[in-house]
Amino acid sequence: MASQREQWNSRTGFILATVGSAVGLGNVWRFPTVVVQSGGGAFVLLFLAIVLVIGVPAIIVELTLGRRSQKNILGTFLILAPGTKWWVAGLFSLVAVFVILSFYSVIAGWAAIYFVGSLLGIFSGLETEGLTLLFGEIAGHGFLSLLAQGIFMLATIIIVSTGITGGIERWSKFLMPGIIVILFMLLGRTLLLEGALEGVLWFLTPDLSQINLDVALSAVGQVFFSFSLGMGAILTYGSYLSPRENIPQSAILIGFADVAIALLMGLIIIPALFVFNVQPEVGPGIIFVTLPAIFNTIPGSMVWSALFFLMLTFAALTSAVSLLEVGVAYFMDARKWSRRAATVLLGSLIFLIGVPSNLSQGIWSNVLIFGRDFLDLMDFTASSILLPLGGFFTVIFLAWIWGTENALKELNKGASTFMWGSGWAFLVKYIIPVAILYIFVSGML
Ligand code: TRP
Repeated sequence: MASQREQWNSRTGFILATVGSAVGLGNVWRFPTVVVQSGGGAFVLLFLAIVLVIGVPAIIVELTLGRRSQKNILGTFLILAPGTKWWVAGLFSLVAVFVILSFYSVIAGWAAIYFVGSLLGIFSGLETEGLTLLFGEIAGHGFLSLLAQGIFMLATIIIVSTGITGGIERWSKFLMPGIIVILFMLLGRTLLLEGALEGVLWFLTPDLSQINLDVALSAVGQVFFSFSLGMGAILTYGSYLSPRENIPQSAILIGFADVAIALLMGLIIIPALFVFNVQPEVGPGIIFVTLPAIFNTIPGSMVWSALFFLMLTFAALTSAVSLLEVGVAYFMDARKWSRRAATVLLGSLIFLIGVPSNLSQGIWSNVLIFGRDFLDLMDFTASSILLPLGGFFTVIFLAWIWGTENALKELNKGASTFMWGSGWAFLVKYIIPVAILYIFVSGML
């Protein structure tokens, strides 16, 4: 059976697909928002440190487990620790994938609506107030937002159903360069705005007095979310790798690309906020209200706004694809479903699970659970509970159950010069689990 498992066609394809998973709403929307909330340059500095100490080593963890087991997230635990209850950790991740994708597709649907809306010019001439109202109408429309969510899920299903090389890899090779081209166009445009420099400096100059525990917590959360860690997405992509692949090198490349794109997004959005002296809203408003308002003040606003939302939709799509693939890989490996059946069934199911999140922005907005609307609740459950737990179990599993020696053996197959092996093993055994646990517990308190 193992010989039937698909493999990435090329190294470039694998890297682009994995970077595609990492680059998403987390970079475009979440990163600039958290930077603004957490004091600018100081947060950025901390973020970079955590990328090095936790982020990149954790990418190595997931890729190594996946390549070794050649299985899905649940099967990895079953194969590497047979007869134990470790597969429950995989189940965690599987559930988290459903939860994340269900609300992710709602927000991605808005991005798609904003792309079309920009082309139609419906945002032209509006200022913050008008845009706030319009955003409320669009997000709360019910029919329109469900339609957009459905179309987005359909696109995700189509890409995943055509397989690793024919679907995910091929589309990533097309979408990722597209994202990068648009990114540089937007960057050129906002940096040319008068007064942009002030924002750039605020973004890049760390004020160390701003660093505290809260800032550290959100930095770690951001690294996990942005690197797609903690729920088997990177592990699943690793399971399509050949033993020749140099995992540490790939992990560094993937981490570097994701960080670079997050920083460039920050350089697009934050100077613009400074130029127009707007108090950025927290949450989706920063993208769906503040940014369109800024675009409206520059010539050719329709085009810039359309480009931005196209980029956002593409970025969300390649991330959604990786989330759906986690579930599909499980049902194909373990239940012997065909790829097409697994994709259509899971994709539709996730769409249905997303319906309450969608409606919670409109007709169900007064239904609160633990003080949160449904979308917010899903986001919180996934990002603050399932994701850190999934990440914790995966790292503990590699370090203490399967063992770093086995892991290094696997790693050295494609990277005989993996000279930082013992440093990595140390991080994985002690530093990373303690850090995650600490963050998780203090986040819960
Ligand atoms: N990393 C993506 C982003 O930045 C989101 C994402 C995709 C994700 N797959 C994931 C987050 C798996 C956590 C786990 O938007």
